[in-house]
Amino acid sequence: MTTAVCPGSFDPITLGHLDIVRRARALFDEVVVGVARNASKSALLSVDERVALARAAVADAGLDGVRVEVVPGLLVDFCREIGAGAVVKGLRGGADFDAELPMALMNRHLAGVETVFVAGDAALLHVASSLVKDIARYGGPVDDLVPPGVGDAVRAALARVQGSSR
Ligand code: PNS
Repeated sequence: MTTAVCPGSFDPITLGHLDIVRRARALFDEVVVGVARNASKSALLSVDERVALARAAVADAGLDGVRVEVVPGLLVDFCREIGAGAVVKGLRGGADFDAELPMALMNRHLAGVETVFVAGDAALLHVASSLVKDIARYGGPVDDLVPPGVGDAVRAALARVQGSSR
């Protein structure tokens, strides 16, 4: 049984993420979508919201052998706990590679966890969680970039944040 983790902030999960998860599942017996904290980003959605949206997206896409869990601390500790030998990440371009390579090397240094990079689908290279939030913030259309229900959750979270900062 081979297990891989697809880690990320998933703030929110996008169609690009879902494509990488689907393709990771073609390579591994079991895939765990790991909702983690990125210390260099402040999240719009709570961890619970991000997990719920990712779970709904996985169920809606009918992905067997895929589950969604919280990564409570270091990714390598989580990999050890669940018996995952590899991490799978998608690359949309050079900027992703520049960000991902140090993390991949560090995870290998810390615990021997290998990272498998999957080239992002050419039709989804423009899709990023940060852009989804930015477009939604100004009332633009995002529903064709994310799984069902995610656009509504982002708009609700933005309304919450904008309401509390008035
Ligand atoms: O989607 P992101 O924000 O690019 O994903 C980055 C993430 C969350 C996978 C990374 O920050 C992470 O692994 N966080 C968990 C804590 C950890 O292990 N940090 C050290 C990484 S070398």
